[in-house]
Amino acid sequence: MRGLGDLCALGGQRAIVTGAATGIGEAVARRFADAGADLLLIDRDETLLAAVAGSLGARAHAADVTDWDMAERVAASIDADILVNCAGLYPSGPLLELDESHWDRLLDVNLKATMRMTQAVGRGMVDRGRGAIVNIASVQAFRPTAGKAAYAASKAGVIALTQVSAIELAPAVRVNAVTPGPIMTDAVKAAVARAGGSAPLTARRISQVPLGRLGEPDEVARVVQFLASPAAAFVTGAAWTIDGGALLG
Ligand SMILES: NC(=O)c1ccc[n+]([C@@H]2O[C@H](COP(=O)([O-])OP(=O)(O)OC[C@H]3O[C@@H](n4cnc5c(N)ncnc54)[C@H](O)[C@@H]3O)[C@@H](O)[C@H]2O)c1
Repeated sequence: MRGLGDLCALGGQRAIVTGAATGIGEAVARRFADAGADLLLIDRDETLLAAVAGSLGARAHAADVTDWDMAERVAASIDADILVNCAGLYPSGPLLELDESHWDRLLDVNLKATMRMTQAVGRGMVDRGRGAIVNIASVQAFRPTAGKAAYAASKAGVIALTQVSAIELAPAVRVNAVTPGPIMTDAVKAAVARAGGSAPLTARRISQVPLGRLGEPDEVARVVQFLASPAAAFVTGAAWTIDGGALLG
């Protein structure tokens, strides 16, 4: 019987990761590289992306994921076995004051681009008879908070899209989502530092987490690697919560 470590290996697998220049996407890229995957990394931040890709020996494609034609160009450039849709935005705003551009931009980046990448890359996966897609949603899809109307709606949409994709692309392609709770990315650390290192919001969020801390990007990346790998061969249409138990509170 193959060990679990062997089953999670990604040697020889070609993987696309969007939003790979920072945060969770970067952590996924680092995990995948460590597991032996051949990587194509996408992000709109050309400078940070080049640094991450350079350190991993990966291909970099600087682009905005909302570019409809970009998805086809990327899909044509690599016979991907794995796609991770991680690029995302999370601005907040009271519902009664949301303007059209806020709503449209957030839904375009978080949801429409996930659909478009799934469509473009998933088509080749179906033709080749194999593939795994992992979408990064959020616990906000299940338990939204004030100010997150557009974000929560976009992530609930990502879960619905994941489920429909899992049905339509089966049996060749497995499609799953992860739903992280609060994760201590560099962007979150910078916000805490700007607030003098004692952001009340962060303290309140930690108090709501039974495990007593925020998560690390790599703790999301490990679950993404599992879902993308042969170890999860019978898992599709799932939404895996990674939140230290916050949804229980
Ligand atoms: N950090 C958290 O607590 C948390 C919790 C739940 C879900 N998430 C989700 O995880 C994903 C990654 O978040 P993160 O916290 O690592 O954020 P982050 O800001 O550190 O990273 C997001 C990356 O996506 C890129 N990006 C944004 N818009 C893009 C676009 N239009 N085209 C191409 N690239 C684009 C950014 O340049 C950045 O590199 C997002 O989908 C987010 O909603 C994060």
